Amino acid sequence: MQYLKDRGFVQPVASEITPRRVFEQRRRLLQLAATAGAGTALGLWAARDARASFARPGRLAPLPGAKSEVAGAVTMDKLTPYADVTGYNNFYEFGTDKADPAREAHRLKTRPWTVAVEGEIGKPKVYDVDELMKLAPMEERIYRLRCVEGWSMVIPWVGWSLSELIRRVEPTGNAKYVEFVTLADRAQMPGLRSSVLLWPYVEGLRLDEAMHPLTLLAFGLYGEVLPNQNGAPLRLVVPWKYGFKSGKSLVKIRFVEKQPAASWVVAAPHEYGFYSNVNPKVDHARWSQATERRIGEDGLLQRKRPTLMFNGYEAQVGQLYAGMDLRRFF
Ligand code: MTE
Repeated sequence: MQYLKDRGFVQPVASEITPRRVFEQRRRLLQLAATAGAGTALGLWAARDARASFARPGRLAPLPGAKSEVAGAVTMDKLTPYADVTGYNNFYEFGTDKADPAREAHRLKTRPWTVAVEGEIGKPKVYDVDELMKLAPMEERIYRLRCVEGWSMVIPWVGWSLSELIRRVEPTGNAKYVEFVTLADRAQMPGLRSSVLLWPYVEGLRLDEAMHPLTLLAFGLYGEVLPNQNGAPLRLVVPWKYGFKSGKSLVKIRFVEKQPAASWVVAAPHEYGFYSNVNPKVDHARWSQATERRIGEDGLLQRKRPTLMFNGYEAQVGQLYAGMDLRRFF
């Protein structure tokens, strides 16, 4: 198995100075907003700032999304450049090297495409992806994506909350978990020849995690349909969990009673847990999770960023894990 080894030097964790500087900056901005006479001025200014670098790349079919009203759906960090979002990927069905998906994923045929929604629900159905896309209004969500390998990106996704679909299919009382099964087709995916994982790639969430408004069924990024290497034609995005929970190129969504056997947990149960919430205090067996390298900001002098609890979405999702020992349920 190939993994990216950190390049450069291990940087010291952020000094005390940084939070104070950030704090002072924030206070200045608040004063500015106050003198402008409107509390909303700061919010508007910040929202514009996050979108300033947003230009549609003009590579694929447009897929616009309205500004999301979901709390936490717009992260103010600078966006990761489109070239990095689409050129540095984990999609093992197309190879384990970060450059493999961009090179090989043109083999993926994304139409016709169906998604079977089944299991413990009142209304099972096989959706055509074009029909599924119309189920709810598309929203733009700017999420951080933190990979367990120690890097992160900030990506403007287009999609809608998975809860929109879940509500419509009416889970029964037995539905405790949701299993996500992704495409495994040897004819299109050269990576399936490798036994690095058991195929198909399977992931799972507890039903309440799947119902959380931040859990996104994504059909696009950067205002266009998903590039194949990012999981076309539809994928999951769970921003407070490590990136591997966000299955690409979904073909089946199953509602089940028992905790699904997720591919990474099956492959290495001591290294990967079912929950996989981003947690800087619980290290992976091989990588510290305390800091991260933001892709697109590389360079020898680039300071690593401290990783945030639940990837910065603690206010939104912390309640889901109240009273749980997060070291045990990692
Ligand atoms: N989904 C499938 N089907 N196969 C994969 O190998 N890799 C996961 C996740 N989803 C993966 C997958 C991992 S490890 C990460 S970090 C993210 O996809 C990467 O998403 P990105 O390439 O769009 O940044």
